[in-house]
Amino acid sequence: MHNASISVPQHSRTAKILHWGFILVFLYALSKQLDELEELADHTLLQYEMVFAVVFLILLIARFSYMRLTTPTVLSASAPSRMRIASQAVHLGMYFCLAMIPLTGLGIGGLYWGGPRSGSVMEGLLLAHEIFVNTGFFLIFAHVAAAFYHRRLSDGVWNSMVPIWQEPRRGADNASVSSQ
Ligand code: HEM
Ligand code: HEM
Repeated sequence: MHNASISVPQHSRTAKILHWGFILVFLYALSKQLDELEELADHTLLQYEMVFAVVFLILLIARFSYMRLTTPTVLSASAPSRMRIASQAVHLGMYFCLAMIPLTGLGIGGLYWGGPRSGSVMEGLLLAHEIFVNTGFFLIFAHVAAAFYHRRLSDGVWNSMVPIWQEPRRGADNASVSSQ
């Protein structure tokens, strides 16, 4: 019959550790977010923020490289092209925002350290920092909504990355249940 379950690749253990581990790093970064520029007058804090931003970027690049070189998505090649494009756009958009947040942060810190602490460049960097934070949140929201949507579709995408609350198996109809 046609209801044999379609086999969908799983994301590797490493991919899962990178995905969920990185969320912890991001939450940690958010928990330490600054509220105003003047907080950087504390030199230890400024130094810490700069080092953290570099570490964050290195982790992000490592993850991006690993995923691009292995399995960037388990979405099937036969999925609707609109879905494939939207998925690719949101994934790349999240990477872009997650890179631009520390990069603009490094710009802010660098300028606070050695350049004019006020003026249009600083204002532009602060605005960009905030815009990338908010665009990032928006894309993450869309990404999580899409994950739940895939769970409803039962196409294996949710199961490939999320270890809990597994999606119901497509094709698990009465025949296959009663044959057990
Ligand atoms: C800070 C929050 C999150 C970020 C930044 C994020 C980012 C990403 C990225 C960039 C990918 C593409 C694969 C990769 O390059 O690693 C991905 C895949 C995935 N994420 Fe997330 N994610 C987040 C939270 C979540 C949550 C909360 C869920 C589920 C409830 C989720 C479910 C998935 C699934 C199912 C995939 C596999 C998609 C596929 O194979 O096409 N993510 N995530
Ligand atoms: C991974 C690294 C970073 C993350 C995740 C992050 C995140 C955030 C967030 C969520 C905000 C609040 C934005 C808002 O008001 O909507 C913020 C503000 C701010 N961040 Fe960062 N940031 C990072 C790196 C840095 C670095 C390296 C610096 C400078 C050394 C910096 C300086 C600031 C400043 C000065 C503000 C306050 C802006 C204002 O006046 O409203 N950030 N950051």
